[in-house]
Amino acid sequence: MSVHKEIKRVTTHTLQWMKQHGEKISMLTAYDFSMARIFDDAGIDVLLVGDSASNVMAGHETTLPITLDQMIYHAQSVVRAIKRCLVVVDLPFGSYQGNSKEALNSSIRIMKEAGAHGIKLEGGEEVADSIRRIISAGVPVMGHLCLTPQSIYKFGTYEVRAREEEEAARLIENARILEQAGCFAIVLEKIPAALGKQVAESLSIPVIGIGAGMHVDGQVLVMHDMLGITKDFSPRFLRRYLNLYDDIREATNKYIRDVKSMDFPNASEQY
Ligand code: KIV
Repeated sequence: MSVHKEIKRVTTHTLQWMKQHGEKISMLTAYDFSMARIFDDAGIDVLLVGDSASNVMAGHETTLPITLDQMIYHAQSVVRAIKRCLVVVDLPFGSYQGNSKEALNSSIRIMKEAGAHGIKLEGGEEVADSIRRIISAGVPVMGHLCLTPQSIYKFGTYEVRAREEEEAARLIENARILEQAGCFAIVLEKIPAALGKQVAESLSIPVIGIGAGMHVDGQVLVMHDMLGITKDFSPRFLRRYLNLYDDIREATNKYIRDVKSMDFPNASEQY
């Protein structure tokens, strides 16, 4: 007789419970089946199919060029891999800013065609109507404030945001608006730790940081940065857990050497 061990899935309610009980939320980006399977097996709480795929998967300088169809392709691959974690998918640039109907239609495509569990979009007050409309259709929404990469040409720099009082006050107000609009969580990117703490303490929904300090309710990193696949990106907030760029390069060098010297394949590696 086979014993079916039920896996308890992470939902938006789990994240809310974790915030209430002081358990930190772990989140990573993923864009493909194989990596998503490993992350899920390791016990990650949330996988974000980030529009950073535009940078790390497609090699673009910014997140702006990636399309909704491309995001759905990545999301389908991730959803096929997972058994436990929550999968959130970024609405890409140009798929929601027009109006709330466009935002809803893009969200529905992601939920329907990829089987995702929720969407993430960037912005505060200006996207609140869209957030309400998406949520009213039953789609969970994660917000994203501060350094929002889709607005990089407005900011002109990837520097730390909200150091000045005026921008910090706007952030606190926008975070409150997103909570009231019904977001189940908010990502805060690259702000002073003290401000991250203030926002996390003032909201009842989880606040997940990337460069927002230790006092928020969870952390997210781009998988290529966390695994050391990217080499030239070293912001202060990044902790590399592996050095895969060098490891993969070395393994590839060795493979090339073995092929050229006819060390590979050997007698036991052929039919
Ligand atoms: O697209 C992405 O990877 C993100 C994270 C940086 C939060 O939005």
